[in-house]
This record gives sequence, structure tokens and C-alpha cells, in this order.
Amino acid sequence: MLSRLLLLASAAFPALVAAQSADITGSVGPLTSVATKKAVKTCDITNYGAKADGETDISSAVTAAFTACKSGGVVVIPSGDYALGTWVTLSGGNAWALQLDGTIYRTGTAGGNMIMIEHSTDFELFSSTGKGAVQGYGYEFHKKGDTSGPRLLRMYEVTSFSVHDIILVDSPVFHFSLDTCDRGEIYNMAIRGGDSGGLDGIDVWSTNIWIHDIMVTNKDECVTVKSPSNNILVEQIYCNRSGGCAMGSLGSATNISAITYRNVYTWASNQMYMIKSNGGSGRVSDVVLENFIGHGNAYSLDIDQYWSSMSEVAGAGVQLSKVTVANWTGTEADGAERGPIKIMCADGAPCTGVDVSDFDMWTEEGSSQVYECRSAYTDLHRTPALYCLSGEAEHVAYTVKTRTVTAAPAGYAAPSMPADLASAPWGTTASIPIPAMPTSFFPGTLPLKPLAAGSS
Ligand SMILES: *[C@@H]1O[C@H](CO)[C@@H](O)[C@H](O)[C@H]1NC(C)=O
Ligand SMILES: *[C@@H]1O[C@H](CO)[C@@H](O)[C@H](O)[C@H]1NC(C)=O
Ligand SMILES: *[C@@H]1O[C@H](CO)[C@@H](O)[C@H](O)[C@H]1NC(C)=O
Repeated sequence: MLSRLLLLASAAFPALVAAQSADITGSVGPLTSVATKKAVKTCDITNYGAKADGETDISSAVTAAFTACKSGGVVVIPSGDYALGTWVTLSGGNAWALQLDGTIYRTGTAGGNMIMIEHSTDFELFSSTGKGAVQGYGYEFHKKGDTSGPRLLRMYEVTSFSVHDIILVDSPVFHFSLDTCDRGEIYNMAIRGGDSGGLDGIDVWSTNIWIHDIMVTNKDECVTVKSPSNNILVEQIYCNRSGGCAMGSLGSATNISAITYRNVYTWASNQMYMIKSNGGSGRVSDVVLENFIGHGNAYSLDIDQYWSSMSEVAGAGVQLSKVTVANWTGTEADGAERGPIKIMCADGAPCTGVDVSDFDMWTEEGSSQVYECRSAYTDLHRTPALYCLSGEAEHVAYTVKTRTVTAAPAGYAAPSMPADLASAPWGTTASIPIPAMPTSFFPGTLPLKPLAAGSS
């Protein structure tokens, strides 16, 4: 029994995802458990001068605790209200963790990143209660029409790490970005921002990252992959009144491959998935977008290589190849105005190997919907028809082809999430409350790893 338990305990570190996806090679997550790190050292910030009074800047206490625990140990921010007035950059840790059980309130106004973790390995940022949160009070900027201020969390050049069971609320700008990281697992998170552009949920440009069980409420990026990125798996994502998930914006020398999104639920957002560019160069290949459910979204599948919201970048266009779109169900807001399939590829670099199958979505308004393609090619010939894709072997540019559909595809009906609310999203002029962690992030599924609150 004991040996079996030990085996189970050691099997949890690091998390093996090889069985779940070909996209990630090897393992992701920290190399050492929190218990092992705690046995080395625990650095509670209240022993380094922090006060849980919601007023005293904890910046120097966090930095001092980090310095004491960065070479093996756990920095603990216990439950309670803390003020962060000066931003912290925690650089160069090894085999350490940051346990955030309290709530950190932004009191400073500088730009940059409230919490930045960089040049670290074997790292874990988590809440043991599922209640640890950062409250950015972004509305204090947004109500003045100001979009400056800090991101809440940024990770840069961090390897073998995880971030889980924490809540990020109302960032002045982006909530969480990860760049140039490797072997990370991000899971069990709620992100709730204002109803405005520029307040991205999670932006990732990294390698070997597994992101799962995340809810984002905002009006911009939900979970978005940027360049360069390779080997990323994103699953069980709940985009609740968000911009929606995306890839981009893609510019010159784009380098993205082996990206899978699956079990993505999108409600009242700009789109279910968008790949966006305008000119540019480089490539995107081996992308899988499967098991998507949507309701009330403006766009559904939206590949737009002429995206007018970005300035045109020099180059013939980013080459998209091997893009598999499968098993999409649900409804879009108005399928005649914005059809559920829009694949607008660059004339200078037509898409190849785009395969759309089991795409069964229908319109909420009216009784028809359009599929639109431009310079987009599939390698496969399927029955029923190929939506609007061309199947020829030679990949030459073509102008927009539109197919209008007047009968609902069989099997379009799809479940909703109980937390979908009809009301307007959180605005930009009043404080946004910290939500509870959702118990499910995709219809009919439980989180892939137990929520901290449930396991404690
Ligand atoms: C693309 O990214 C991969 C993984 O980071 C790297 O190995 C490769 O050299 C890059 N390719 C180009 C053309 O930059
Ligand atoms: C299609 O997606 C649904 C969730 O929307 C899932 O329950 C079902 O198993 C998927 N079907 C296939 C063939 O993967
Ligand atoms: C989903 O968004 C709505 C509108 O902003 C919000 O009221 C609701 O609480 C969100 N759902 C969850 C689970 O937070």
C-alpha cells in the first residue's frame, strides 16, 4: 500500500500529458512537489514585514521572502487582504513555489507587470484554497478612458512550471501573459475583466504548454496563442462574454506549429476561434480545433488574413497549412450577416490542407447562414460537401466563394453552461467582484485535475 501511494505521489510530478496529446512531447509542470519544497523551507511574507491590512505595500516583504526561499522553498501569502503598490520581479528561482491564498489588491499605478516571474525553473504558483486572487481595479483607469497601467501577471523564460487555482480580476491591461516559457501547465483559473478591448485573458507564446480548465470573462482575447509557439494544448476553456480564443495577430516570420484547442465553450463573444493577420510572412501548421460549442457569438470560425484592425505587414501572407476543424456544434448570433465558417486566406499564400468536418452550427436570427472561403484549399474530399473549400491539387488564389445554407444541419443542438447570463458583461466604470472558481469549464465535464477547494 505504502509503495503504491509513493508511486502515485511521484507519478504526479511532473504531469505527463503524452497520453493526452501528440502536441506536447514529454512532461510539463514543476519537477518537485510543494510538500517537498515546504520540507526545505517556508517563507511566509508576514514574517518578512507584510501586513494583511489591505493598505501596507507588501512589495519589499514579498521580495525578501523570495530571496530567502528562491533556491528551494515555498513563499506563502496567507489568506487576508494585501496591498501591492510597487511591482515585484522575482527572478532566478529554482525549485520554489509561490502559494497565494490571500487577495492582492493593486494600489500602485505604474505600467509593467504587478507580478513578474522570470528565469526560473521547477516553479509552481498556486492557491491551496482556490481563493487566492489578484484584484487589479482596472476600472479606476478604464472609467477615465485610460488603458495604461500594469498587467497582473507575466512569466518570462520560466521552465517546468505550473500556475493553478488562482483568480485574476479586472486588470488595467492584460491579465496573464507567458512568453518564451517551456514545459508549463496552466489550469483551474478564473479570469474576469472589464467589457473592453485590450484586457486579454491569457496570451501565450512559448513551447510545450498545457492550458486547461480556464474561464475568461472580458471582451478581448480568451486564451490566445501568439508567435513563436510550438506544441501547445488548450482544452476545457469557457469563454464567457469574451473576445474569444484566437491565434495572432500574426506578422512577419510567424513560426507556429502543433497547436490543439479542444472542448472550447464560447458564449456571447466576438468569435469562437479566430486566426488573424494582414500580410506578413512565415507559417502556421498542424493546428487542430475540435469539439467547439458556441452560442450567441458574432463570428464562429473566423480565419481572416485581411484583418482590418491591424495595419498591413510586409509580405505575401502567413502560410497556413494542415488546419483541422472538427465537431463544432451550437448556434451563432446571425448567420446571414456573419456566417459560421469564414476562411479568408492570403492570396499570396493560399491555405493548404484545411479540413473542416462535422461542422454543425445554425443561426439564432433568420433562416439562412453563409459559408465563405477565399484562397483556401483542402486535401480531403468529403461527403457531405466541403463547405466552401476548394479541393484542387494546384493551390492558386481565388476570390471569395460563398455558399448559402437554408436548412439547419442535423445535430447542431448543443448544451449551454448554467453560468451563462443574459445580462450585460461587467462594465468599465465600477469595481468588478472577485468570482468563485467555476466547478466546470465545459458542458458535461469536470476539471481534468481536482479544484484546490475540493481537495483541501
Ligand atoms: C520555429 O520554432 C521552433 C521551436 O521553437 C524552432 O526550433 C525553429 O527553429 C523555429 N523556426 C524558425 C524558422 O525560426
Ligand atoms: C464532439 O464534441 C462533443 C462535445 O461538444 C463531445 O461530447 C463528442 O464526444 C465529440 N464527438 C467526437 C466524435 O469527438
Ligand atoms: C459569465 O459572465 C456573466 C456576465 O459578465 C457574469 O455575470 C457571470 O458571473 C459569468 N460567469 C461566471 C461563472 O463567472
